[in-house]
Amino acid sequence: MSLAETLERPAARKPLIPPFPPRASENLSAWGRLAAIRNNAIASWGPRAYEEEIICGRFFGRSSFILNRPDAIKHVLVDNYENYTRTPAGIRVLQPILGEGLLLAEGRAWKNQRRTLAPAFVPRAMSTLVPHMLSATDDAVTALSTSCGVPVDLREAMQRLALDIAGRTMFSFEIERHGTSLRNFVNEYGARLARPRFLDLVLPPGWPSPQDISRALFRRRWTRFMRGLIAERRAMSNGDAAPRDLFDLMVAARDPETGRAFTDEQLGDQVSTMILAGHETTATALFWALYLLSLDPAAYCPA
Ligand code: HEM
Repeated sequence: MSLAETLERPAARKPLIPPFPPRASENLSAWGRLAAIRNNAIASWGPRAYEEEIICGRFFGRSSFILNRPDAIKHVLVDNYENYTRTPAGIRVLQPILGEGLLLAEGRAWKNQRRTLAPAFVPRAMSTLVPHMLSATDDAVTALSTSCGVPVDLREAMQRLALDIAGRTMFSFEIERHGTSLRNFVNEYGARLARPRFLDLVLPPGWPSPQDISRALFRRRWTRFMRGLIAERRAMSNGDAAPRDLFDLMVAARDPETGRAFTDEQLGDQVSTMILAGHETTATALFWALYLLSLDPAAYCPA
């Protein structure tokens, strides 16, 4: 189905949505939008991004889309993935921490990685991962329930929980002690390097921005950290026993056509991708779900 046909299909039910961020504005100039992107890339599109299912805009000569409808998302990400690319600024900001992993891979490389990783995410594999999720959630609930009467930064608590789940499901309990370093790396990147600056947005791809130098230095430390984790995890041999976590599942993954496994470098990028892509999104979704529930006592505390 073409994008035009997809656009013509009837609108689905409107979801209950969080309030618009205060800076969202309909009529930002290109420069205003550049400034807004640093704070919240979606808000820089204005309220339409939260109200409409598909919007298209042009920004510095490029067409970009916001898609809020499953069939349109499938059209772009699955059925016609070769026709769409990520923005150069997005790649510039994400590559130092995600490398060549699944989220940033494009075209044939994406297809190969996708089919190699698919068995690690089938429903059956979830039974390996769910116990790690439950134990991390139990710990978070216990910690929150002991803070009775004291205000809680729910965003921070959910980020901690999601990162804990991402770490434990990836590497099991044995390397939980690396959790603090993992959090520090992620927080450092988020605070210092993940927000695009003006030059990140306007320089042509391949021209390094001043921030890129800091990002390259970060990448060197990050990949060393990842290599250490992987070496340590590999040393905890499991014999022929059942997989214990996502790492075991990803080590066992083979490209169904070539039979190739991931190299250690590729594994490092996939591990980084799963941890990063898996925690920020879920933390934000959990935060908003809990916040919206808190506004509706009848929903979370039915009589
Ligand atoms: C509420 C939770 C989540 C949301 C809202 C979310 C959202 C998204 C979105 C919008 C994309 C497409 C991004 C793009 O290509 O531009 C994506 C891709 C991806 N997400 Fe998530 N995600 C969530 C949870 C997770 C979790 C838990 C993991 C890992 C365990 C994960 C791993 C990935 C990966 C690897 C991709 C790239 C997939 C590909 O290109 O084939 N996500 N996610």
